[in-house]
Parts: sequence; C-alpha cells; structure tokens
Amino acid sequence: TALNGLNFQFTEEHLAVQQAARDFAQTELLSGVIERDEKEFFPEELVRKMGEMGFLGMMVSPEYGGGGMDTVSYVLAMEELSKIDASASVMVSVNNSLVCYGLEAFGTEEQKQKYLIPLASGQHIGAFALSEPEAGSDATSQHTTAEDMGDYYLLNGTKNWITNGGRANTYLVIAQTHPEKGHRGINCLIVERGMEGFQIGKKENKLGIRGSDTHSLMFTDVKVPKENRIGPDGFGFKFAMSTLNGGRIGIAAQALGIASGAYELALQYSKERKTFGKPIAEHQAIQFKLAEMATQIDAARFLCLRAALDKDNHQDYVKSAAMAKLFASQVAMDTTVEAVQIHGGYGFVKEFHVERLMRDAKITQIYEGTSEIQKIVIARELLK
Ligand code: CAA
Ligand code: FAD
Repeated sequence: TALNGLNFQFTEEHLAVQQAARDFAQTELLSGVIERDEKEFFPEELVRKMGEMGFLGMMVSPEYGGGGMDTVSYVLAMEELSKIDASASVMVSVNNSLVCYGLEAFGTEEQKQKYLIPLASGQHIGAFALSEPEAGSDATSQHTTAEDMGDYYLLNGTKNWITNGGRANTYLVIAQTHPEKGHRGINCLIVERGMEGFQIGKKENKLGIRGSDTHSLMFTDVKVPKENRIGPDGFGFKFAMSTLNGGRIGIAAQALGIASGAYELALQYSKERKTFGKPIAEHQAIQFKLAEMATQIDAARFLCLRAALDKDNHQDYVKSAAMAKLFASQVAMDTTVEAVQIHGGYGFVKEFHVERLMRDAKITQIYEGTSEIQKIVIARELLK
C-alpha cells in the first residue's frame, strides 16, 4: 500500500458519525462506566441502545439492515466510543468487523438472511471463536474438531477467551475437519446459542475491559447443519485471517480512543491542578508529556485512517492494519501510563477514569493478534 489516494478530508457523513458517537458516549456510556467496570457487567438496555444507534452494524450494507458506512466512519466512531468505554467498543468491533463482515463477505444469501440481518441491527450479538486453550497466536493448531457426518458436522472441543461469549446468539466457530491438510482443512461454522451440546463456560475476571464478557465455550457432539459452514470446505482459516485483517483496524481505533480519551483528561487536569503556585501545565515536565502524547496520538490516528482508507479503496490492507494495531496499542499503553502520572494520586483512584483506561489499554496489545504477531505479519508482507 502506498500513500496514494490518502485523503483525510472528512465528508459531512464522517463528521456526523463522529459527533453521534461522541454524544452517545457522553450521554449513555459515561455515567455508569465505573460501576460496570467494577461489577463486570454491561446491561442489555445499553446494548439495545447501541443497536438502535446503528453502531453494531455500521458497515453492513443497508440491504441487510446495516448502516452502509465506510471504514473511515467506523474508525471515527470506534475512537469516540473507546475514549469513554472500551468494553462497549469491543462489542462494536467484534460484531462489526469480525462477525458481520465475515458473514457479509463470505456467507451465502441464506446465511445472510438468517444471521446477518438480526446482527446488523443489534437485535442479535455475534461472537468470533478462534482461540483455544492451546491455540492463541498459533492459530492453525486447532484442537476443536468438526467431523464431516454427511449432512452435518459433529463439533467437539473448547474455545477460550471469547468476547461476547455469554451474551451472543450467533457464534462463528473455527474447527479442524481434515487434520491431514493442516490449516487448509479448517472450517468456520455458524453455531447458534442453545444448540444441543453447546455450553458456555464461566466469565473471566479480568484486568481491563471488565464490562465486556469473556467466556470459554465447550462443544460436545454439537450437530451443526452443513449449510452453516461458511465458504467452501477448508476455507475456515483463510476466513479467520481475512476477517481479522479488518478486525485489527477496529482494535487499532479502540487503542487510539483509549489513548486520546486519557490524553484529553490529562490535558484538562493539568490546567486545573496547581502546585508551587501555578497550574501543573506550566511545568515544562508536564508540557513535554503532553507534547509527546499528542504527537504519538496523531501518528496513531494517521495509521488507523490509512488502514481504513486502504480497505475502503479496495487496496491490500494486511500490512497497514497490522501496523496501525501495533503502533496504536503501544501509544495506548504509553499515553495512559503518563495520564495517570499527570493526575498524581488522583490518577490512582477510580473516579478520575485514567486508571481504568490504563488497565483497558493493555488488552489492545494482546487480542486480535499480539504485538509480536503483528510484527510477524508486517515482516512477512515486507519480505514477500
Ligand atoms: N490475511 C490473509 N491470509 C492470511 C493472513 C492474513 N493476515 N495471515 C495468514 N494468512 C494465510 C496465509 O496466506 C496462509 O494461507 P495459504 O497457505 O493458503 O497461502 C495461511 O493463512 C497460514 O498462514 P501461515 O503459513 O503464515 O501460518 P503461520 O501459522 O505461520 O502464521 C499467523 C499465521 C499469522 C501467526 C496467524 O496464526 C495469526 O494471525 N495468529 C494470531 C491469531 C489471532 O489474531 N487471533 C485473534 C483471535 S480473535 C480476537 O482476539 C477477538 C477479540 O479479541 C476481540
Ligand atoms: P500465546 O499465543 O500463548 O502467546 C504468549 C506470548 O508469546 C505472547 O506475548 C505472544 O506474543 C508470544 N508469542 C507467541 N508466538 C510467538 C512467536 N511466534 N514469536 C514471538 N512471540 C510469540 N480470541 C478469539 O478467538 N475470540 C475472541 O473474541 C477473543 N477475545 C478475547 C478477549 C480477551 C479479553 C482476551 C484476553 C483474549 C481474547 N481472545 C479472543 C484471545 C486472544 O486473541 C489471544 O489471547 C491472543 O491471540 C494470544 O494468544 P494466547 O493468549 O494463547 O497467547
């Protein structure tokens, strides 16, 4: 991908989406965010409101009940939502860029009618189940099996760390059908909540994004109809990698939002807090922190938008998405740590929000491919 066609001139629609997400975050997400983090929950009512606002199916074509928006709009919305609540935004990211995108890009018309339409409106929530207890980064070594039984698959195995795991209706489950074929023997099956033999494990107690529910999933002889396979036999790994390319743009934008949210709080606080007779913003040590944060955030934003534009312009975006995620997640870590520092002791308590943002930042370096995996992806693209 080159810098050709790079145009950061936002349209009216882009700005309207950004404003809508900013308003929604302020009016709906902010008030309970500390309690949701502390008590590890996210009310259905808020999920419903995010659906009504169109955030859960932003990029899905209107034909299937989505917003028909581009990836740039998605990045702008993800940044705004993530400034306030990264647990809400991960739901938006998984539903949009893994589940809905995967179904729209690779599903059959019947699959889209049955599964995509309710997901795009937020009536249903989706989950994407690739990781296993022993297959995270090493995603091709799937232990979950989907045995071909003629007109159905027999699904057995365990998935780990599944976002929306406890509340989803539709699960895209990756499993091995032909072990002798390696990653080319893997399939992706659409599994419905409540299918016989499908059990949802306990909710994880996490460092960050505590409002988001993360569960293990257990499958014991679950019969999944053949028509629920996405793409041709053996397409499952390619499916997972292709959807993750776009997912990584969503998580990069989430990291950007966590960073910019923390920066905005630190900037404001530095003008209010006085020490040694003047606002701390007048101490050069604090100014340098702010300058560093703002510069890093702008660079992260450019990378996120470049990746989004590559996708919107139908360019290859494997590398630009991985670069955006690698860089923005580091910026999220660095910025949130400094935002806590600028707040002093107040930064260490919950009321001031920056300690939560610091905890939330860490996951952006781990999920949808760790930073080490992003470097592998980038290097392979550079060297191919
Ligand atoms: N886009 C498209 N295809 C890709 C791809 C990409 N980014 N990366 C790999 N592939 C394809 C390769 O082309 C290859 O296909 P062919 O053999 O048909 O050409 C196939 O996938 C296997 O690739 P490799 O031979 O490179 O396999 P590998 O085992 O050496 O490495 C990996 C693969 C890149 C490390 C991959 O396993 C990976 O991305 N791991 C990280 C997994 C991950 O991101 N998990 C996220 C789970 S979802 C999640 O986390 C959601 C959430 O939190 C909210
Ligand atoms: P490992 O793969 O065991 O990695 C351990 C360490 O080794 C990491 O630092 C890693 O970068 C490094 N490492 C591994 N291989 C290499 C290598 N070749 N070179 C250099 N370093 C390497 N998964 C889903 O499928 N769906 C979800 O919805 C989902 N949501 C998640 C939500 C949360 C809150 C969490 C914590 C995880 C979620 N995941 C999900 C799983 C996530 O994608 C994995 O945790 C991640 O891919 C890393 O896998 P792992 O935990 O097995 O770590």
